[in-house]
Amino acid sequence: MTARQFIAETERRPDHTHVLLITTGSVASIKAPLIIKELLKYSNVKVEVVSTKESLAFFKTADVEDAGARVWTDEDEWSGTYKIGDPILHIELRRWADIVLVTPCSANTLAKIASGLCDNLATSILRALAPTTPTYIFPAMNTLMYEHPLTAEHIRIVREVVRYNVVGPIGKRLACGDIGLGAMTEWRDVVGIVVEKMELQLKS
Ligand SMILES: Cc1cc2nc3c(=O)[nH]c(=O)nc-3n(C[C@H](O)[C@H](O)[C@H](O)COP(=O)(O)O)c2cc1C
Repeated sequence: MTARQFIAETERRPDHTHVLLITTGSVASIKAPLIIKELLKYSNVKVEVVSTKESLAFFKTADVEDAGARVWTDEDEWSGTYKIGDPILHIELRRWADIVLVTPCSANTLAKIASGLCDNLATSILRALAPTTPTYIFPAMNTLMYEHPLTAEHIRIVREVVRYNVVGPIGKRLACGDIGLGAMTEWRDVVGIVVEKMELQLKS
């Protein structure tokens, strides 16, 4: 049973858009609080964040909480023993989500999604997600990681077999100093995609 419980049925609000933001081990995870703050300027929006262990190195959980969301990690999923009937975090979060963003998506998580691996909270949610839930992947990685032949194959599988939307990456000077393709789509454009897809309206 999880220490912090999350039950989709009680967490979902009528007429709200429930945005699940998954962050992975790329520097671009620092943008998470900005994305959340911007999304919460729209009416009837709720945001929850699921972070891989590595992505937690790039932002403070307190900054996400200040922005108005909670961070869920593998430790929440595996904090105790389960008995039959207990809520299972990755299932509850996928039941809750109306739209899922993997932003940023590391090369590692991209490879896991393409291979069907589900060895952490983030990839377990994705593997258990209904195919009708709109899901957007925003790859972010070093240029040579992006140009690695496996990356193109993983993106092809994620698009054509798993049927997620893959957006970006874009070209610019990366955090590591290299210039080239690999940067995450601008965070405002990430928000723009959700606004358009879910027809969000700014709070008056
Ligand atoms: C400072 C730092 C920055 C990193 N930036 C990236 C990145 O932008 N993209 C990427 O794919 N991997 C990056 N990595 C490597 C990933 O964090 C590593 O592959 C990790 O296993 C990813 O785990 P996850 O996919 O479970 O989050 C970076 C590593 C470090 C130490």
